Amino acid sequence: MSDMTNTNEDILLAVENLSISFGGLKAVDNFNVKIKRGELYGLIGPNGAGKTTVFNLLTGVYKPDTGAIILDGKPITGKKTTEINHEGIARTFQNIRLFTNLSVLDNVKTALDERYRYGLLDSIFRTPKFRRMEKELDERALSILSVFELEDEAELKASQLPYGKQRKLEIARALATEPKLILLDEPAAGMNPQETKELMDTIALIRREFSVTILLIEHDMKLVSGICERLTVLNFGQILREGETRAVLNDPEVIKAYLGD
Ligand SMILES: Nc1ncnc2c1ncn2[C@@H]1O[C@H](COP(=O)(O)OP(=O)(O)OP(=O)(O)O)[C@@H](O)[C@H]1O
Ligand SMILES: [Mg+2]
Repeated sequence: MSDMTNTNEDILLAVENLSISFGGLKAVDNFNVKIKRGELYGLIGPNGAGKTTVFNLLTGVYKPDTGAIILDGKPITGKKTTEINHEGIARTFQNIRLFTNLSVLDNVKTALDERYRYGLLDSIFRTPKFRRMEKELDERALSILSVFELEDEAELKASQLPYGKQRKLEIARALATEPKLILLDEPAAGMNPQETKELMDTIALIRREFSVTILLIEHDMKLVSGICERLTVLNFGQILREGETRAVLNDPEVIKAYLGD
């Protein structure tokens, strides 16, 4: 019975022996993790530890030198970024990437699933089908924006939003693709304490609302300890510690890695 928590259905993401080198540098060296469905898992470590590189490997930006990535029981190692997104992984970036000249609403609409698309002729002649689909798309996008309390800003250009709200919009875009797993790369970077607090609440909320599994890279220890159940600490491309959040953060080796930064 003790194996029940480790059955394959409970593991959404399994990463085995993942490595990549750039020239002589082992940026990620034998990385392993198992993330449970519905879990909020943290990936932390000093600057240059390899955190973003792990995300780039998981999303097919880089192909690993060795190792396997299994999402929901299916190997996705070596697949292209768009294929991996279709399989159910979405991400945000350390530096915000938005369509700054599009409206907030259109930023979410462009990310929504292809099934909401319609034929060119429908759109030229504005057929009833086109208008119905357009309405459905607007409603879906607005409902996602409302989770982030951005619906009042729907018609603004993305560039007109304050920084903290641009960060939220990026998460909204990622969620619009209906991922099983969302990867957030330092979502609180550059936020003030109030914005960070709000973001923590939002991340906890989206896990419930969208029943999504979350892997979070974060430097803000308060944010990490407030919401993550388990953590992995990377240092120089290798796993330094992993386990339950509080135990990991109190580990002297981990504290040393951070103070030595
Ligand atoms: N495309 C690349 N070519 C060469 N080196 C790279 C490449 N991508 C990452 N690196 C190197 O790999 C190491 C890990 O980088 P990475 O961006 O993953 O660190 P990080 O943990 O995300 O750091 P930070 O907290 O500063 O964002 C660094 O030494 C970086 O310079
Ligand atoms: Mg990084």
